[in-house]
Amino acid sequence: MNKKTVRDVDLKGKRVLMRVDFNVPMADGAVTDDKRIRAALPTIQYVLEHGASVVLMSHLGRPKGGPDPEFSLKAAAEALGKLLGKDVKMAPAVIGTEVEEMAAALEPGDVMMLENTRFEKGEEKNDLELAQKLAKLGDIYVNDAFGSAHRAHSSTEGVARYLPAVSGFLMEQELEYLGRATGNPERPYVAILGGAKISDKILVVENLLKQCDKLLIGGGMANTFLKAKGFDMADSLVEGGSVEIARRIMETAGDKLVLPVDAVLANKFEAEAFTQVWSLREPGVDGVPGGWRIMDIGPKTIELCGDILKTAKLVVWNGPMGVFEMPKFAEGTFAIARLLADSGATTVIGGGDSASAVKKAGVAKKMTHVSTGGGASLEFLEGKELPGVAALNDK
Ligand code: 3PG
Repeated sequence: MNKKTVRDVDLKGKRVLMRVDFNVPMADGAVTDDKRIRAALPTIQYVLEHGASVVLMSHLGRPKGGPDPEFSLKAAAEALGKLLGKDVKMAPAVIGTEVEEMAAALEPGDVMMLENTRFEKGEEKNDLELAQKLAKLGDIYVNDAFGSAHRAHSSTEGVARYLPAVSGFLMEQELEYLGRATGNPERPYVAILGGAKISDKILVVENLLKQCDKLLIGGGMANTFLKAKGFDMADSLVEGGSVEIARRIMETAGDKLVLPVDAVLANKFEAEAFTQVWSLREPGVDGVPGGWRIMDIGPKTIELCGDILKTAKLVVWNGPMGVFEMPKFAEGTFAIARLLADSGATTVIGGGDSASAVKKAGVAKKMTHVSTGGGASLEFLEGKELPGVAALNDK
């Protein structure tokens, strides 16, 4: 990475203003998955150990219209305090005199958390006045919020213009592993893409096809490709507007692009639906029967994926293979997770649903890297420069 990191700055006696991504799932006012908080610990601990104090900032959810207790970061600050084994001082707001006084009173080793940055109207507009006010709260800006790096907001981009701006370890690690998928990849390099909509991932498909040796497509997005290939899809989810694009992509990709050869069908979109395994070998012949829909990849497809993955040196996976929230249609996704775990390849999981799938399959620890970014990892895989990264100081 050509960006400066916390290792490149003198932290002693400084106040570090650190953007983290504590946009974590919550229920009944408590954090239900602290992965993103844990992922920020190495950088927080490093700056504290090097004689600095820390002012943390993050967004949580998408509050509209100012401060709202439902979107407070208090519970995240408490969860962090438990993990750090020290008190995290919770600010009453994002900016303002009281917040400035609290930040000014911090001693080396102290940790303070600002309220949800989206409580400020200017945040999502990358308002530079807000960015300047935030910058007053620290001497050095550290961005460790990979999950928000695709957003050009005051706390992720604007603020970096007013302070020395460096990356944290999580940001560095994410860019290093996801970078393997887009830079000079180990080969054979297999990419696996799933998820419901092809329209969300067209740029990812096109960019990955430039770099990988095989691109396996599953999930709802495979349906649109199968339709373009000439299969009757009956009640399956197909994006009519994307069939032509899928056809074009298939033409240029040739046999680099691998589609399901069978599927698990359901007679309705319900957990308790009737199911059957259906072969998809010959367009025009093996179409999905009327009244049925594709809900998962089938056993022959899993076998085919296994064959391809056997020799892979690098695998990048983004998006589930089926409707894995429903147990009857989860096998394809979990089987891919297990195949990756046993593959011996470098395995990079692109966040969101795939991250939760490897966790549910009990193999998250066997992956080389599970990204904390959803949208950010997708935009990275599209080959886009992330504004939160671009704004940091070059080495
Ligand atoms: C995420 O969860 O993907 C990030 O925290 C960004 O959240 P946003 O999509 O609300 O900007």
